[in-house]
Amino acid sequence: MNIQALINDKVSQALEAAGAPAGSPAAVRQSAKPQFGDYQANGVMGVAKKLGTNPREFAQKVIDVLDLDGIAEKVEIAGPGFINIFLSKTWLAERAEAALKDDRLGVATEEQQNIVVDYSAPNVAKEMHVGHLRSTIIGDAVVRTLEFLGHNVIRANHIGDWGTQFGMLIANLERVQNESGEVSMELSDLEAFYRESKKLYDEDEAFAERARGYVVKLQGGDEYCAEMWKKLVDVTMIQNQRNYDRLNVSLTRDDVMGESMYNHMLPGIVADLEEKGLAVESDGAKVVFLDEYKNKDGEAMGVIIQKRDGGFLYTTTDIACAKYRFEELNANRVLYFIDSRQHQHLMQAWSIVRKAGYVPEEVTLEHHAFGMMLGKDGRPFKTRAGGTVRLADLLDEAELRAAKLIEEKNPELDAEEKANIAKTVAMAAVKYADLSKHRTTDYIFDWDNMLAFEGNTAPYMQYAYTRVSSIFKRANIEASELTHPVVITDEKEQALLSTLLQFEEAVMNVAREGQPHLMCTYLFELAGKFSSFYEACPILNADEEVKQSRLKLALLTAKTIKQGLALLGIETLDRM
Ligand code: ARG
Repeated sequence: MNIQALINDKVSQALEAAGAPAGSPAAVRQSAKPQFGDYQANGVMGVAKKLGTNPREFAQKVIDVLDLDGIAEKVEIAGPGFINIFLSKTWLAERAEAALKDDRLGVATEEQQNIVVDYSAPNVAKEMHVGHLRSTIIGDAVVRTLEFLGHNVIRANHIGDWGTQFGMLIANLERVQNESGEVSMELSDLEAFYRESKKLYDEDEAFAERARGYVVKLQGGDEYCAEMWKKLVDVTMIQNQRNYDRLNVSLTRDDVMGESMYNHMLPGIVADLEEKGLAVESDGAKVVFLDEYKNKDGEAMGVIIQKRDGGFLYTTTDIACAKYRFEELNANRVLYFIDSRQHQHLMQAWSIVRKAGYVPEEVTLEHHAFGMMLGKDGRPFKTRAGGTVRLADLLDEAELRAAKLIEEKNPELDAEEKANIAKTVAMAAVKYADLSKHRTTDYIFDWDNMLAFEGNTAPYMQYAYTRVSSIFKRANIEASELTHPVVITDEKEQALLSTLLQFEEAVMNVAREGQPHLMCTYLFELAGKFSSFYEACPILNADEEVKQSRLKLALLTAKTIKQGLALLGIETLDRM
């Protein structure tokens, strides 16, 4: 149950009943401090101002008609006209029981939508770089969250699998095959292979001519070229899949919807845009002039959709792709997780999409941008030698560092378990470090921070889970044996429970904003509330009834942390 939404509804009704214009915002928020209750309604002042009445008097009128029977035990006016709402202990306890009985922890599903999520999107014959890592991790967390809320999510891995570079890649693949018969490449070789292809193209005229011929043939659907192209895509994606699996990212080969998929649509799109008077010829190219983007001379900026030589562009593909997602995939909402440097590109493509009427306004096209990953020195993340960091190497290093840490903490565990813990903690650390930061800012990649057991980190959250679970083990009791109801006897219990019941709000916020850090912040706060509760409220030594109630709170905490981390694609451990 979304308590914030419930109270917001109730206060909205009361506002209207007290004379506010229909639709006046109740602005109900979680209270920042316990003395302000669990929730506060901030909407009264704005309405009173509009009505020209005294805000505190108006607040009283609202409270007089506010129906929170059985839900709140106290409602008071504070300051200039805030309404503070204190939830009833019995009501909270009932909600806790309901959450414990439910696999979904009481979280309701939303009305199902078709939601396309565009994320990861590496390029063929190129290493995945750190930008793709951010997109992959953040996008996957949002995908899991949307699915949990009951949506039909379509993962769209918009890989860069098309373009004139495939001419030289095919020509080079052919050369290698002729020389050695077999081709089995690792991605690191693929990068070298890409550079070699480029070099041959630049220096060997016969090769370049062959390459150009292959571009034309590939675009014309030639079978041999298509087969060679597919080999290149396959090697790349087999290797990327290893990274996805290691990182517990839910993408599979079936989710690939690369640029090539839209190729057949492009001539039609250009013709249609011309017919609609949106695209015009300019210097032999086809261009759409957008009034909302001005160049430095104040003229409408031109977006090229077809080059003079007939070639199409990245923008043309994204126009077709948005159209496809609406028309063929029936998307109600499309989320793009792409770094912020591509913002202008997307805005231009979508502006054209809207003008052409390819996607109606009620279908949202959302750019969920993120900043760059920086090294500790504040510069773009690079290897010591200045090269791009291979994702696989980065994950290897994370595992090595985590293994050292586990060795120090838990030398007595057997080797296999240590290795498993190290792997789980390492991947969690890399992911959580990224997920916990506000997405739009650049973020500093720092091994020591991300592997620390203190602060808002993966090891801290994973350990919080393990610790809560271990309380259970020590109590030597099964969850099914907890027959006494939840009772609140201490304010720390109430604070913990109130936060536990805000899980649904956190889930829905992540789904709405596409910002997984909201979940991290929530879980971190929850772990803090649990610690204060655990310090103040002894569990195992308490009387049986209180003990069982507290064990239930611990159980719900463990389940909530586990579910919250699972939505982020992060695994928990029973021992660490
Ligand atoms: N492959 C692109 C890159 O590496 C990202 C594609 C993002 N998705 C899109 N629909 N443009 O920059």
